[in-house]
Amino acid sequence: MPFWAPDIGIDLGTDNTCLYVRGRGIVISEPTLVVLDRENKQTVRAVGDEARFLYGRSPDHLLTVSPIKNGQVADFDMAELMLRYFIRKAVGVSYLGKPRVVVSVPCNLDDVNRKALTEAVRYAGGKHVFLIEKPFASAIGTGLPVYDPIGNLVVDIGAGTTDIAVISLGGIVVSQSIQVGGNKFDEAIIDYLRRECSILVGQQTAESIKKDLATALPLEESRSILVRGINQLNTSASTVQFTSAQAYQAVKSPCAAIVKAIRWVLERTPPELSADIMRGGIHLTGDGARLFALDRYISESLGIPVLLARDPGDCCILGIGYLTENMQLVSLQEKKEPVKKQ
Ligand SMILES: Nc1ncnc2c1ncn2[C@@H]1O[C@H](COP(=O)(O)OP(=O)(O)OP(=O)(O)O)[C@@H](O)[C@H]1O
Ligand SMILES: [Mg+2]
Repeated sequence: MPFWAPDIGIDLGTDNTCLYVRGRGIVISEPTLVVLDRENKQTVRAVGDEARFLYGRSPDHLLTVSPIKNGQVADFDMAELMLRYFIRKAVGVSYLGKPRVVVSVPCNLDDVNRKALTEAVRYAGGKHVFLIEKPFASAIGTGLPVYDPIGNLVVDIGAGTTDIAVISLGGIVVSQSIQVGGNKFDEAIIDYLRRECSILVGQQTAESIKKDLATALPLEESRSILVRGINQLNTSASTVQFTSAQAYQAVKSPCAAIVKAIRWVLERTPPELSADIMRGGIHLTGDGARLFALDRYISESLGIPVLLARDPGDCCILGIGYLTENMQLVSLQEKKEPVKKQ
């Protein structure tokens, strides 16, 4: 029987959880979801991919829970249960020693939430738990020279949070985390359709509208799709034509909130590092950054080049994976005090 379980890296996202096993790479990428019995909450019916399949199809006696909200543990028991399931699926149970675990967290997570997350991972089977800020991991994942004396600005737009950080010499210099991400875009689309078109749609419909039609800048040639929902006035099923101009209006406010937060970080960045950022640009990671024209919108609003990472949703777990392969860097990271952290 092997003695030590291999080190594990976890990107614990609001939407997706990925696990990286040292020496093997990314082994799990599944939704952050658990389905349980409504009556007996101890009975778990499905986790991850299986839970996503049941989502929206499950009968009334089943309850779907997202244990992580906005990058924080929202349901401790379910988070522990889900993590135990994923860790066992990733490395099995045939080890005497528990694994060291590197986990991604939003920037500026308070001590109570850091402790809750650490405990959940420990109860789920981790021995030592190391917390790494998401934009730091994403910066490594997208190939930025984070250990050089150069200013790098990374904006990680996930489902629950947007994490912004200026990174230099292996540490975070200034950072900001706002609870605006893909989910807020979905909510904005639901709100717009209810307010302006008197039609009620679910989160999944809103998400597909976001991916197919929504845009952060007005399109030269307008497009439209048919949206099916429930008419608010007579509660019957109905269909409306939804245009890209309307979708643009719907997501305008969360897009502006992201730019405002980036500006806040830039205003607090030391001038030498700002000069590096003006040259090197802003790096966008996280799948939420794939909103059409969001990169151009940020660039035009701030007058700085913006680069969207190649596989934005994988940057964080790739960076966590790099750290998992080089654990000496993680202990360095733990000791490093940020120069200035808001
Ligand atoms: N093509 C696309 N256009 C717009 N949004 C997209 C696209 N593809 C995925 N998304 C959105 O990206 C979000 C998921 O991104 P990601 O997987 O990076 O989040 P997460 O890591 O789970 O969340 P967080 O880091 O906030 O905890 C979802 O809101 C999803 O709808
Ligand atoms: Mg994420």
